[in-house]
Amino acid sequence: MKPRELKANIHWVGAVDWDRRLFDELIPLPDGTSYNAYLVKGSEKTALIDTVDPTMASVLIDNLNQLDVKNIDYVVANHAEQDHSGALPQILKMYPNALVVATPKCKRLLMDLLLIPESKIVTVEDGGTLSLGDKTLEFIHAPWVHWPETMLTYLREDKILFTCDFLGSHLATSDLYVTDEATVYEAAKRYYAEIMMPFKTVIQKNLEKIRDIQIDVIAPSHGPLYDKPEFILEAYKDWVYAPPKNIVVLPYISMHGSTKKMVEYFVAALVERGITVKQFNLAKTDIGKLAMALVDAATIVIGSPTVLVGPHPNVVYAVYLANALRPKLKFASIIGSYGWGGKMVEQITRMLPNLKVELLEPVVIKGFPKEQDFGALDRLADEILNKHKEHNLTN
Ligand code: FEO
Repeated sequence: MKPRELKANIHWVGAVDWDRRLFDELIPLPDGTSYNAYLVKGSEKTALIDTVDPTMASVLIDNLNQLDVKNIDYVVANHAEQDHSGALPQILKMYPNALVVATPKCKRLLMDLLLIPESKIVTVEDGGTLSLGDKTLEFIHAPWVHWPETMLTYLREDKILFTCDFLGSHLATSDLYVTDEATVYEAAKRYYAEIMMPFKTVIQKNLEKIRDIQIDVIAPSHGPLYDKPEFILEAYKDWVYAPPKNIVVLPYISMHGSTKKMVEYFVAALVERGITVKQFNLAKTDIGKLAMALVDAATIVIGSPTVLVGPHPNVVYAVYLANALRPKLKFASIIGSYGWGGKMVEQITRMLPNLKVELLEPVVIKGFPKEQDFGALDRLADEILNKHKEHNLTN
């Protein structure tokens, strides 16, 4: 992709990674991603806002060459993670006069992770500014979206907010701005679920912090830019502030069919009661889809057989994830089976300390489900319905 002009003297110079399918060797990227970097030329100084993943440094360099950029005065590092700062060493080599602009915490991380010399980094305080001549960069510290050192950069005269990871989406697209809102909503929600949701409370503070800023364009460092900022700001408000919905998320796995039979019966029982169910077979599911479902759900019911004396390892992974992501869940329960004993319920329960959930009576049975076991599942479905009603949760 060639450089794209946002406005006079402001260009997108990043890279689109159409083929990447895994991030941090952990997060699935079904739609690829982009590493957005921006060149801002003032009347006196030139700044590059973020760089790109080191695997795509040559794309950034090619873009800068196409714009015939002879000098860069500042490289703003909004975030030290390698997908945005990983190409810094090459850029500093190419533009030896450039100084890196970062928060004090980011400075330390850039030195530790990327071995950037201390003398090359200047730090900026929250609310600090940097004049490029006829353009002014204002720095807004926004820690924990999603590392402790993160900041946003606001280009005052053009009302562009460069948010790096915050408000972004893992989406490879040829569109500079959002065109297909449904697709971007899905990608941004996945991004929020996987990366931002554990930091819900600081995200609330950061949304407050930018509430009174006049923003024409939000320019994140992943995915398309928002020329209608309210699209992504309203979505975030819903994900962060709104109460959970009348939804049960049901991650499960079954080895010999007993747990599967329970899940089938239980899902039908919940649906009969007007509850939306999102069911995930952990042997096959995209873990990102499970994370997305957790954004809105009020209840999680975990389905597992007993392996040795505990839950299936895939269930352990999903429970660890749910606990780490800290969704808005209010209730949890467990269904499943065992052959001759075990401590599955105790082990799963111990793994959920971050979730402020009420544990509803689990239904863990011996062998294949029988009549009384279906009755117990009906009682659990009734209890979930009553709890959701008590909290006035809607679909
Ligand atoms: Fe896109 Fe936290 O890096």
